[in-house]
Amino acid sequence: MSVIGLGTAAIGRPQYINIRQTANDRLNLKEFREGAWRILNQAYDLGIRYFDTAPGYGFAEALLIEWLEEKKDQEIEVATKWGYTYVANFDPQARQHEVKEHSLGKLLEQWRQSEQLFPYLTTYQIHSATFSTGVLENQAVLEQLANLKSEYNLLIGITTTGADQLAVLRKALEVIVDGIELFDVFQSTYNILDQSIAEVGEELAVRNKRLIVKEALANGRLFPNERYPHHRKLYDQLTHLARKYNVGIDAIALRFCQDNIPAYAVLSGASIDQHLTQNLKANQIQMVEEDLKSLETFSVSSDAYWAERKQLDWN
Ligand SMILES: NC(=O)c1ccc[n+]([C@@H]2O[C@H](COP(=O)([O-])OP(=O)(O)OC[C@H]3O[C@@H](n4cnc5c(N)ncnc54)[C@H](OP(=O)(O)O)[C@@H]3O)[C@@H](O)[C@H]2O)c1
Repeated sequence: MSVIGLGTAAIGRPQYINIRQTANDRLNLKEFREGAWRILNQAYDLGIRYFDTAPGYGFAEALLIEWLEEKKDQEIEVATKWGYTYVANFDPQARQHEVKEHSLGKLLEQWRQSEQLFPYLTTYQIHSATFSTGVLENQAVLEQLANLKSEYNLLIGITTTGADQLAVLRKALEVIVDGIELFDVFQSTYNILDQSIAEVGEELAVRNKRLIVKEALANGRLFPNERYPHHRKLYDQLTHLARKYNVGIDAIALRFCQDNIPAYAVLSGASIDQHLTQNLKANQIQMVEEDLKSLETFSVSSDAYWAERKQLDWN
């Protein structure tokens, strides 16, 4: 069973692409920051030791650097990324929240902050590698990542998002620099609705690569929502299983990921205390095979999944 890690995308900036069922009432930056600090402590107290961050997540990475200095626990493991810059300045009305740039210059610039995560930093990822930015063919970038890998003994990874994430992942698997496979870690979307990367799960395990599951709750779309009447049967089954195992739908959905694909970690994207506690109940249940299989039948095509994902707003 994979461990649950904490993703920090929603704790370092007030707006994020997901469905919030509770009002985002921490828009005062000071309170919002205190809330983020509390979540980090709560995650730690509840046993989480894997944290995922990025300079593109508002103040999340900088806050994590401060928090790690206070925690000083060698068991903590951190993964970060490069490639996105947060530009919304914590303004809820901002029209643009982040800018993507997969250049050598951006890699060198963001590394200067991220290296402060040592000695907890184990994993350095390209944030949302795609074919369109050409990053997997950018020799200067790939060589710099190979340098970091050998100099700091880092695991180098990519994160994938979008209908072609399986194809991007496959291409990354074949990248070799100086005779060595460059990428060790693949952080990809996997959940009950989008199970496309299951196809490569075993191969990653055999090749000793790490898979990290993100968006396990499909950004909140797995909770019953009248905007998505076509998922009604899934909502009914999740509600039934939640009652059966006496946990929330979130714990059922996370546990599905923990059991159904050989991942190193499954990320919780919770940004409020109560959600994190509920998410972690996934560790306390044991679903029977028949129930896991019943959830497998709800997968949709990648195109349909990502078309729906594109409709989500920053909120
Ligand atoms: N391109 C990339 O590299 C990339 C992209 C996406 C995500 N990620 C990583 O993956 C992590 C997790 O992904 P994610 O946050 O997008 O997705 P997620 O885990 O699929 O969804 C999180 C959403 O579910 C809600 N939620 C969680 N527990 C809940 C509960 N018990 N009741 C009601 N709502 C609940 C959260 O609400 P609250 O916010 O109110 O708790 C949030 O809106 C991120 O933090 C980030 O580290 C990386």
